[in-house]
Amino acid sequence: MSRQAPSYIADAPGELLLWPEQASSVARELDYLFYSLVGASVLAVVLIGGTMFCFTIYYRAGSGRGRGSGFIERHSRRIEIGSVVATLIIFLSIFAWAGSLYFREFSGAPGAMTVNVVAKQWMWKLHHPNGVREINELHVPVGRKIELRMTSQDVIHSFYVPAFRLKRDVLPHRYVSMWFEATEPGVYSLFCAEYCGADHSRMRGKVVAMRPGDFQQWLAEREAPLSPAEAGEALFAALGCSGCHSPRSDVRAPSLAGLHGQPVPLAGGSTVIADDAYLRDSILLPRKYVVAGYQPIMPSYEGQVSEAEILELIAYIRSLDTVVESGR
Ligand code: CUA
Repeated sequence: MSRQAPSYIADAPGELLLWPEQASSVARELDYLFYSLVGASVLAVVLIGGTMFCFTIYYRAGSGRGRGSGFIERHSRRIEIGSVVATLIIFLSIFAWAGSLYFREFSGAPGAMTVNVVAKQWMWKLHHPNGVREINELHVPVGRKIELRMTSQDVIHSFYVPAFRLKRDVLPHRYVSMWFEATEPGVYSLFCAEYCGADHSRMRGKVVAMRPGDFQQWLAEREAPLSPAEAGEALFAALGCSGCHSPRSDVRAPSLAGLHGQPVPLAGGSTVIADDAYLRDSILLPRKYVVAGYQPIMPSYEGQVSEAEILELIAYIRSLDTVVESGR
């Protein structure tokens, strides 16, 4: 059953965001975590506050109660150690639980459908793996892991979908990722949760979770000129990258096929992993890493390519992982 926009979608200004529904695979567990934290805090307040309250009455001035012979006084050391250790165990467990959820959400999801996200003042630009582009609206199928590969082309923004219980800062000059699996078809609010300038409050959109069949139909109805990798390939040629990074070139430039994710030996003797950040630096700051055995002759493309285009170039280089370049 496909649902209408839930009431908390604040299309009318002033509408309140109360308790968003649980619409992703992690929402329930994150809520349990939240309740546990609140529960542990309430328990601590009640125990400590309650004890203090009782003691102020029990030991009040003039009550004649001794200070050295009661049960508490005799066992004070054990009580102190016990309460400290119990508190430590409870809160460290919550920390470990939260930490494992954090790493699960934010360290990538193998096999996920990857959507490129570029934030800017004041909109979200999204690029689907098959080429469909969207602004401020993200359509996804339910029951499928969606990984967002995010960056910003100006200031810090934050991608926040309350119904998915997901929020992550989107930073300029850096790539962060986050994945989710929508579990309920529906329309969910997307907010920017980091103050980013005059129109921050209007930088919001929707995530539309659709049944897989509806999603396929939605995709089919849209023109999808170029996937990120295809757009990257076209850029690769247009910018002249292929002039050097090609097996047929006279210039000795590192081969890019099978490069992504692999260690790269550097001139200084160290190595670096060729991840997205490395590729981005190599395009904008080519002198930052000099590959062992090569001259640092590549020019910088700073100012010539947008963040969205860099993501496309990276998508193209990643796609070379599985393609054997002819003539190598
Ligand atoms: Cu973008 Cu606030």
